[in-house]
Amino acid sequence: MRELLENTAQRAISYLEAIGTRKVAPSAEAIANLAMLNERLPDDATPPEQVINTLDEICSPATMAMAGPRFFGFVIGGALPVTLAANWLAGAWDQNSGLYAVTPATAVLEQIALGWLLDLFKLPAQCGGAFVTGATMANFSALAAGRHALLERIGWNVEADGLFGAPSITVVVGEEAHPTLFKSLGLLGLGRNRVIRVPVDSQGRMRADSLPKLTGPTIVCTQAGNVNTGAFDPFPEICEWAHSSGAWVHVDGAFGLWATTASSTVDLADGLAAADSWATDFHKWLNVPYDSGVAFVRDAAALSAAMAITAEYLPTETQHRNPADHTPELSRRARGVEVWAAIRSLGREGIADLVDRTCRHARRFAEGLRLAGHRILNDVVLNQVLVSFGDPRTTERVVSALQLDGTCWCGGTVWQGETAMRISVSSWATTDEDVEKSLDAMIRVARR
Ligand SMILES: Cc1ncc(COP(=O)(O)O)c(C=O)c1O
Repeated sequence: MRELLENTAQRAISYLEAIGTRKVAPSAEAIANLAMLNERLPDDATPPEQVINTLDEICSPATMAMAGPRFFGFVIGGALPVTLAANWLAGAWDQNSGLYAVTPATAVLEQIALGWLLDLFKLPAQCGGAFVTGATMANFSALAAGRHALLERIGWNVEADGLFGAPSITVVVGEEAHPTLFKSLGLLGLGRNRVIRVPVDSQGRMRADSLPKLTGPTIVCTQAGNVNTGAFDPFPEICEWAHSSGAWVHVDGAFGLWATTASSTVDLADGLAAADSWATDFHKWLNVPYDSGVAFVRDAAALSAAMAITAEYLPTETQHRNPADHTPELSRRARGVEVWAAIRSLGREGIADLVDRTCRHARRFAEGLRLAGHRILNDVVLNQVLVSFGDPRTTERVVSALQLDGTCWCGGTVWQGETAMRISVSSWATTDEDVEKSLDAMIRVARR
């Protein structure tokens, strides 16, 4: 076992050491080699060393260098070395982290991390929290708590009796809500299409002058950090309007919630703490391994009412916090360990610096591209940049050519009708030099 694990660690370290010098996207040849994995279901055993060799030799070259310093696609962070190390150790522990009684260490780490996070984000200390796979499930969990609370107020137990025959809940979203929010609404039986859409401004912010009149139980889904522009909804106006009708306000802050941790960006999140629930990711801006996110709910009892389970064989009775009383799943990995390790290692200042630095890189991208004559489509307030290189076909050509060039990787998007390239700076590993190198590549490719 020792030899297998040490050799695998060596392979993983070599992979990471080479990540800054390889092309960011895998080559066509490396992708074609994946066909070698198409074997018959093996009847006989294969030595573990050989299994790991196959993985490393065939699959490592076919990976996208998302863990490297010049991947700027979607909103994807890398993994801080301390979080990868914590992940390895937690993998060795193999703790099924649903219940305090059987996994006290991971339950305690998660609870401590939860307290630190509420402090970092300046959210109410009494919030309940669910450590889930990512923002999609964090939105789901927080909205399940909202659904519970609103229906409980009018005498309906949604967990027991379901939604058939229940009083209806109105859901309000911004026109630019993230697509996964609609998925969460669908999973909750609230419907992907049964929503009132509030018009947005040029940055994707809900327009406070276009909020509808509210009647009956209502959930208002706001956003901190638009996936294209990085913009924030006007929380003070929205919370005041929604709460005056008893509505539940949820904030999808998949990456934007991290703006609260740095003095340079905290003002963007003004008023957000008045909401009822929040969702964010760790695998984006905190730079921990996948999969990792969290839901916070001001009314902790609403979250546990939506999620808790009891069964005779489960040791759920405890004066301690049971992780599974807050999450959709019972059995799960100990994702709080890496979150704890990241915060313990970076501290408040390190986290602020990570957010500051990546936002500074985003501003430099915008400045460099603007100086080279390209059009920046968004106000670069956070870590997101949208750039147009001309007509849609030209921009699409630049995106494809840049991906092929391999210096860095950015994706395409269409922002309010305009085709654009999206640069998202989310990795701890990106340096000033990486930004300059990537800028040169973008400008060079656009000139062709
Ligand atoms: C605003 C927003 N919400 C939700 C999500 C979904 O997050 P995840 O993929 O972690 O589930 C994203 C992902 O980019 C996002 O930007």
